[in-house]
Amino acid sequence: MEQSTISHAKPKFYLTTPIYYANSRPHVGSAYTTIVCDVIARYKRMCGYDVAFVTGTDEHGVNIERAAEKQGIAPAELVDRNQKIFRELWKLLGITHTGFVRTTSNEHARAVQTLVRRTMKRSPNAIYKAKYEGRYCIYDNLYVSDTPEPVNCPTCGRPAELISEENYFFRLSAYQERLLELYGDQPDFVQPDFRMNEVRSFVEAGLKDVSISRKTIKWGIPWPGDPEHVFYVWYDALTSYMTAIGYGEGEEGSAEFRKYWPADVHMIGKEIIRFHAVYWPAFLMAAELPLPKKIFAHGWLLFEQEKMSKSKGNVAYPEPIVKVLGNDALRYYLLRETVFGQDGNFSREAMITRYNADLANGLGNLVSRVVAMANDYLGGKISFRLEQGIEGSQSAAASLRDAADGAIKQYKQSMEILDFSRAAEAIWNLVSAANQFLVLTQPWALAREQANPETARSQVLGFAANAIRIVAVMAYPMLPGGTAKIWEVFRLPGKVDDRWIETLNWQTGERRFEVGNVESIYPRVDKKEAWERIEAMENEIRNPGSAQPPAAATTSGAASAAPAAAPAAESKITIEDFAKVELRVGVVKSAERIQGADRLLKVMVDIGDEVRQVLAGIALAYAPEDLVGRKVVVVTNLAPRKMRGLESNGMLLAASAGADGKPVLCTFAEDIPPGAKVK
Ligand code: MSP
Repeated sequence: MEQSTISHAKPKFYLTTPIYYANSRPHVGSAYTTIVCDVIARYKRMCGYDVAFVTGTDEHGVNIERAAEKQGIAPAELVDRNQKIFRELWKLLGITHTGFVRTTSNEHARAVQTLVRRTMKRSPNAIYKAKYEGRYCIYDNLYVSDTPEPVNCPTCGRPAELISEENYFFRLSAYQERLLELYGDQPDFVQPDFRMNEVRSFVEAGLKDVSISRKTIKWGIPWPGDPEHVFYVWYDALTSYMTAIGYGEGEEGSAEFRKYWPADVHMIGKEIIRFHAVYWPAFLMAAELPLPKKIFAHGWLLFEQEKMSKSKGNVAYPEPIVKVLGNDALRYYLLRETVFGQDGNFSREAMITRYNADLANGLGNLVSRVVAMANDYLGGKISFRLEQGIEGSQSAAASLRDAADGAIKQYKQSMEILDFSRAAEAIWNLVSAANQFLVLTQPWALAREQANPETARSQVLGFAANAIRIVAVMAYPMLPGGTAKIWEVFRLPGKVDDRWIETLNWQTGERRFEVGNVESIYPRVDKKEAWERIEAMENEIRNPGSAQPPAAATTSGAASAAPAAAPAAESKITIEDFAKVELRVGVVKSAERIQGADRLLKVMVDIGDEVRQVLAGIALAYAPEDLVGRKVVVVTNLAPRKMRGLESNGMLLAASAGADGKPVLCTFAEDIPPGAKVK
C-alpha cells in the first residue's frame, strides 16, 4: 500500500520556546531550546497536528536598559538590532516557527494589560500594593531574597542589587494548595519527573507573594491606570505565550487564541522552571484561564564544565558551525549527544567526529553507494517487489525488514517521550542494518552468481533504497536538509515531510525508483581544518575585525603584525569611540611557550586588581624569560577568545616593525604601578 500523506482533520498542538533576552546575540546554548522545539514541531506535523510554534524576544527590563546604556544607545535601538539577529539565526537554522513575539510590540502591551485587568476583576484579592525591600539580580531578573541583606544570585553568582520601592504584588501565597492539587492531579505537568519533585518541594515549603511591578524602571509596559509603575519583566514575558496567538483582542482573545490555548508544551531550560511551573499557573488560575498542559525543563549545554553563557565568556556560536559543517550537523550533534533533560557537554571536537562518523561515513556513504550502484548497473532505474525476498539472500532480506520495523517502533516510542538521542539511535540502527545488508548481498558480485543479475541487483538495491526512504522520513525532523536531498535523489513523490509517521512501514507491492545523480550529501571534513575554520569565525564574532586566515588566527594575540594603512578621513573615530577601549599598565609575572603554536606565548600579566592570562603572538620576537617584570600595555576589556584551547583574556599592545611585521611591545620608561589607566 502506498504510504498516506496527512489529510485528516487536524488536532492542534501549541508549542513554545522561552522568549530570549534581547541584550546579546544567541549562542549554541540558547539555540539548543529552539532547535529542540523545531524538531518537535516538525515531528508533530508529520503526526498530523496543526502546529503553532512560537518564539520571540524578551525586550524589557533593567538588563536591557543597562546593556543599551553601556553601548551608548537607546534600549529600543538595542532590542531592535538584536531581535533581527535572532530572526536571522532562526532562518539560518531552518526553524519553522509560526510566530515571533516581541515584548515591545503594541499587541503585547495590550495582552499584558488585558490579563492583569481580567485578573483584578476575577480575583479581586489576588493583586495588592505594598512596599518591597529586597535583593534582585538584574542579570537573571530574579528576586533573590526578600530582605535587604547582601546576597549573591544563586543562578549567576553575582551580587544581587538592593531594591526598595512600592510595588504591586501578586498573592502567590494564596495559591499553594491549588498548585499542589494541580501537581497531584497531573503528575506529568512538569517533566522530567525529578524536576516535578523539585517544584513540588519548593511549593510545599510555602510560597511568598511576588512583586509584579516596578517603579524605578521606565523601560517596560505601564500598569493600566497607574503608569508610574511598569510590569515586572517576568509577568510581562510569560504573557507573551498568549500574545503570540492573539490574546489581547478582548479578554477572551482572538479566534486563534481560543483555538490554540492552552499551550501543549512550554519548553524551557531548567533555570527558569519556577517561573513556569509555579508563578505562571498561579497567574493563570487567578485570571481564570486554562493552564498549560506541560512544562518540559531541559538541562544546560555546558562548555568547559560550565553553563554556556556570554557573561562567562565560554560560548560557541552556531553560525560558524553551520557554515563549516552545515545546519544538520549542529542539530544532529545536539540531539544525539545529550540525553534530553540532562545537562550535556558541548565539544567542537566531538561534534566534528560525530559528523564524520554518522553523517558522512554512515548515512551519506550509504546513500552514495546505493545511488552509484543503481546508476552503474541499472541505468538509474530500480524496480523491485517489496514483499518478495531476495534469491540466495533470504535471511539478509528478512533481517533488513525486521530492522526497519524495529527502528520505526523504537523511533516513535522515543519521539513521543522526547528521548531524541534514543530516536536517533533507532535511525542509525537502520542505517547500519542497510550497510550490513549490502555487505551480505554484495550487489557488485551478483553478476557471477545469478542467471539474471539485473533483476537480482534491482531487488537488492531496491531493498536498500527502501530502507533509506524509511530513514529519511524518520530523520527529517532532525536533518531537514539532508533528508530533503535524499527524497529528491530517489525521485520520491511529494516531499519528505508530507509523510504521515503513523503509516510509515516497509510497505508491499511493486516499486520503481529512478535515481538521479548525487554529490555527497554530507561530505567528509578534515578535522583540523574544520576546527580551525570554526575557531577563526568564532573569534571574528567575538572581536569583529579580528578575522585572519586560520593559520594566523591561532598564532596572534598581540597587535596585528601587518603595517597599518593610514585611516581614511571618513573612518576617523570620536573620543567616545576611543574611550570604549580600556587600556591599563600591566606587569608580566610569567610567560611560557605553547606546544604546537610557534608564535604564541602564554603570558600572565598583573593588571592591578587581578592577574590575567593573555595569549600573545610574540614568541618569535621575545624569549619568555626576558618578559618577566616587563611593563606592558594591556587592552583589558576585550571579550575573551580561545586559541589552541586556551583562553586569552586581553591583548598586549605592540608596534609592528619592518616588512615581516616583527612585534615590538609597548612599554614605559618611567616607574608606573600595574593597573594604571592608559588614555
Ligand atoms: N527571557 C527569559 C525567558 C522568558 S520566557 C517567558 C530567558 N531568556 S534567556 O535568553 O536567558 O534564555 C532563553 C532560553 O535559552 C532558556 O530556555 C534557557 O534555558 C536557554 N539557554 C540559554 N543558555 C543555555 C545553555 N547554556 N544551555 C541550554 N539552554 C540554555 O530566560
